Amino acid sequence: MTTPQFIQLYQHNAAAVAQELLQGLSAPQAFTSPKYLYDALGSRLFEAITELPEYDLTRTEAQLMRLHSADMARHLPTGACWIDLGAGNCEKAGRLLGPLRAGRYVAVDISVNFVRQALDSLQRQRPDLPMTGLGTDFSGGLDLPDALALNAAQPRVLFYPGSSIGNFTPDQALGFLQSLHRACGTATGSGLLIGVDLLKDAAELEAAYDDALGVTAAFDLNLLLHINRLVGSNFAVRDWRHLSRFNAEQSRVEMHLQARHAVRVQWPGGERLFAAGETIHTENACKWTVPNFEALLRSAGFAQTRVWTDPAQRFAVFWATV
Ligand SMILES: C[S@@+](CC[C@H](N)C(=O)[O-])C[C@H]1O[C@@H](n2cnc3c(N)ncnc32)[C@H](O)[C@@H]1O
Repeated sequence: MTTPQFIQLYQHNAAAVAQELLQGLSAPQAFTSPKYLYDALGSRLFEAITELPEYDLTRTEAQLMRLHSADMARHLPTGACWIDLGAGNCEKAGRLLGPLRAGRYVAVDISVNFVRQALDSLQRQRPDLPMTGLGTDFSGGLDLPDALALNAAQPRVLFYPGSSIGNFTPDQALGFLQSLHRACGTATGSGLLIGVDLLKDAAELEAAYDDALGVTAAFDLNLLLHINRLVGSNFAVRDWRHLSRFNAEQSRVEMHLQARHAVRVQWPGGERLFAAGETIHTENACKWTVPNFEALLRSAGFAQTRVWTDPAQRFAVFWATV
């Protein structure tokens, strides 16, 4: 049996992380990058979110992939190197690698330790498929290192499911998609398979990010504990509440943590007083229409797109070729 290879590019630079976080926390509208939501507990809480009745995004996407797998197999290259961006538990790609006859699997995640276990178990199911785990932070664009030893002649399928693209503003999304277009390489047939949540009723969207059980609230609030570990701050979870707001002008759901009362937060060398009701903006989930996202893919350099949607147009899976 082949064993997965692991490449760790993401070197935790404590000073740089603290600087980035404290800059965001000190801004007039405090903010943090959504990547800090994913510590070990955050990754597990996200898995639980995907099972909630209010969050049908993951189920709808899985159903689309299942229903249209034969058509996908007609459009996607066989023997391709699949590069799974934000692979998490590797489940989504794991279901497609066989039917779409992948030739290699590369699981990319900032949290490579979370991926390690998933990749080991996937390797047991597919002992002959070469697998690599790549630990990297792609928030500034995807850069594939030489250490991956990618074969330039092998087509690539970049896989970015779960509407994670929604975490980027449209301008950032364009830059990120351009980096994915470059990462597709030059082999014929290469492209990007991407899942995108579509614009729908505001109340439904807000509920998807503020479920009745409070799992999304726990996911968001856990960020404060993660920040405390990263910068030595003294956030107390009980001082904050989770909010989900639909911003119609920007076509996005915003997650915020709101101070329940005036809160003084301290960290080594600094502090901030948050007034009652002030918020920290912790995540955007931009929602797209099919024509708008198609136009974005074209602006990023992709030549042709194929799209699969459900009858209610809740979610879309795009296949965009280089
Ligand atoms: C929302 S989950 C998606 C997981 C899975 N692909 C899915 O669709 O259900 C996001 C995953 O991306 C990873 N991630 C988040 N930000 C990242 C970044 N900047 N660079 C690399 N991985 C990142 C997280 O660790 C997490 O496993």
